[in-house]
Amino acid sequence: MADKKMWGGRFAEGTASSVEEYTESQSFDRVLFEEDIQGSMAHARMLARQGVLTSDEAEAIVVGLGRVRDEIESGEFVWRRELEDVHMNIESRLTEIIGPLGGKLHTGRSRNDQVGLDFRLHVARRLDEWRDLLAALVSVLVDKAHENRAVLLPGCTHFQPAQPVSLAHHLLAYAQMFKRDHQRAGDCAGRTRISPLGAAALAGTTYPLDPASVAEELGMDGAFANSLDAVSDRDFAIEAVFDATLIMAHLSRLCEEIIIWANPAFGFVALPDAFTTGSSIMPQKKNPDVAELMRGKTGRVYGSLTTLLTLVKGLPLAYNRDMQEDKEPFFDADRTVRASLSIMADMLQETGFNADAMRAALSKGFLNATELADYLVGKGLPFREAHHVSGAAVGYAERAGKGLEDLSLDELRSFSALIDQDVMETLKYETAVARREAPGGTGPNSVDRQISDLTTWLDSLE
Ligand code: ARG
Repeated sequence: MADKKMWGGRFAEGTASSVEEYTESQSFDRVLFEEDIQGSMAHARMLARQGVLTSDEAEAIVVGLGRVRDEIESGEFVWRRELEDVHMNIESRLTEIIGPLGGKLHTGRSRNDQVGLDFRLHVARRLDEWRDLLAALVSVLVDKAHENRAVLLPGCTHFQPAQPVSLAHHLLAYAQMFKRDHQRAGDCAGRTRISPLGAAALAGTTYPLDPASVAEELGMDGAFANSLDAVSDRDFAIEAVFDATLIMAHLSRLCEEIIIWANPAFGFVALPDAFTTGSSIMPQKKNPDVAELMRGKTGRVYGSLTTLLTLVKGLPLAYNRDMQEDKEPFFDADRTVRASLSIMADMLQETGFNADAMRAALSKGFLNATELADYLVGKGLPFREAHHVSGAAVGYAERAGKGLEDLSLDELRSFSALIDQDVMETLKYETAVARREAPGGTGPNSVDRQISDLTTWLDSLE
């Protein structure tokens, strides 16, 4: 049954069923059908422009491909495992519909440049979707920051209380990460929108093809420079999945904070019911499962990156069948990153921040100790001594079970005669935040500037 295969000319025997099952990719690469059909239509039109096909032939092929597309979209298309992949399933059906002319479509083309084109188109489109989702998430963060400009919470280093910051400033830190992810995905998309069509199997072709015009018709930025590279390169997918890992890393850090903040010992956030789950045994529970799962799913995206990097590391030029394994890791990372970005935006939108709980936490941990040291520096004391004096006051207050702001002026003065009544203003948490107006700091004007810069950036994307 060798003639069942589109490549079966030289074969006397058919493929073992186990091999057919092992080597097929149509079960997953059918996701690429739209890109495959668009690429084939562009190829057929170019063949006609170059005089390789007549314009009637190209037209008939394009119409036939449109019918195949309709069949796939309506679900009536019959996918056949013995036809291996999305490319041969589509071409075979095209030939059933329009007759032997379908066989002319593959002129000057190989599945090697064809799959490269399909995958590049697909990855570039997904990168654009990630960018839209990232912008939507930044927009929610900016809105929430705007609403919470006056809310203060303990900023931490080593997860220990360090200095007070505004909640807006904290949320905007994530906005910056996701903005960079957006830019990274844009950079990657530029390198991805390069068409390999015309490289053929590996060496280029003898037909007078015009790869640049195909690239242009498909909305790509240009055509390949080296045919061997064109069919071997999977950098674009690896880079895209790397971008996905960073997006997930950023989401996962945010998830970790949401999980901590939702613990009643903190009580900083009230998660919406729709984004939490209960326990089958403990009636009081409201678990942050969405954030936990997102943190967990981060690992599988990292896994996809490792899979892809390992896949290409030992491959000689040019195409190797190993490369068929490049798709599922990307598809999985794409699914995970899109769902995660969208659900994080929705969850944050509905999350309530508990300003009172954050305020109460400020008084635990001497977040104004640096202010006292800076105050003394302002009075002429060298910083090292000021640090020591403030530390001694912290030790005293801690033994007394108080905050620095709860000590009397006399108590404070016992640590340094430089301390006056004006220290009381200095020790206020609001003062500490308000004084940090240097660019990028947590001061209210600085935060307003960050909000307006991000808003301008978001507007520029439209
Ligand atoms: N299904 C294949 C892939 O994804 C298409 C390219 C096949 N090329 C070949 N020479 N067998 O890589």
